[in-house]
Amino acid sequence: MSRFSNKVVIVTGASAGIGRVTSLRFASEGASVVAVDLNEETLNETVELIEGAGGTAHAVVADVTVSAEVENYVNQAVEVYGGVDVLFNNAGIEGHVAPLEAYDEEIFDKVLNVNVKGVWLGMRHVVDAMRLRGGGNIVNTASGAGVMATPTLVAYGASKHAVVGMTKTAAIEFAPAGIRVNAVCPGVVNTRMIRNIEKMTIPEDPEEYTKMTNERVPLGRYAEPEEIAGLVAYLASDEAAYITGASYIIDGGLFVS
Ligand SMILES: NC(=O)c1ccc[n+]([C@@H]2O[C@H](COP(=O)([O-])OP(=O)(O)OC[C@H]3O[C@@H](n4cnc5c(N)ncnc54)[C@H](O)[C@@H]3O)[C@@H](O)[C@H]2O)c1
Repeated sequence: MSRFSNKVVIVTGASAGIGRVTSLRFASEGASVVAVDLNEETLNETVELIEGAGGTAHAVVADVTVSAEVENYVNQAVEVYGGVDVLFNNAGIEGHVAPLEAYDEEIFDKVLNVNVKGVWLGMRHVVDAMRLRGGGNIVNTASGAGVMATPTLVAYGASKHAVVGMTKTAAIEFAPAGIRVNAVCPGVVNTRMIRNIEKMTIPEDPEEYTKMTNERVPLGRYAEPEEIAGLVAYLASDEAAYITGASYIIDGGLFVS
């Protein structure tokens, strides 16, 4: 498949998990990938994986909460590859696990800063480059936590509801420029983030969390990041030309059960 031939795709949170696998997916479909993350070492590994598979990628170390660093990753995409067609606005953190009244205030601010401000800054700084290109696509990573209750993860749930809301706003504001904006809402995905939530929730037996969750998921398992990448690539492709402002749940049936 080459749905992204001659396209430039920026992926944030590209060092690990969903971001790394989706970077590989875009590159395998012909995109030049601008891989963005805080963690330089693992970011370079993502670029090596892409190049090792015959793809094209450029690493930019950036903190998505810092406006100048976000502006820089967009500028780098323009300088290195000539423009931007797609932003996968995916970097995020989970915060900690605690009842609402005991939730740590500093962690609350940090989660909102990365998961809300980081996503807003990405959309804000990329829009002019997409306008110059005559259109574009943004896919934001929200979560099932953006549409359902998340007991013990108050900041995470608030931040992901905000991502769903910002996706709707951006979809309307950017539509006249031919820019579509959608969100993905994964349930539980097999990455570092869920391993940490397992450990924080049941420190004495994290595997029990996996077992209990799998029993609640109608399809009986966590998603693999490749499955999220497939949905992201679809939404960013021309096959989804009439989809904007939508938040797609991808959860093995967890939230309908
Ligand atoms: N794993 C799940 O079960 C799950 C479910 C729903 C949604 N999500 C969302 O998917 C996205 C990716 O998560 P993941 O599961 O791949 O987790 P992960 O921890 O494996 O990857 C997150 C990446 O984001 C990067 N990052 C964090 N803060 C950053 C910052 N300030 N600037 C730049 N990069 C930063 C990290 O370095 C890391 O590489 C997140 O937005 C997460 O909330 C995950």
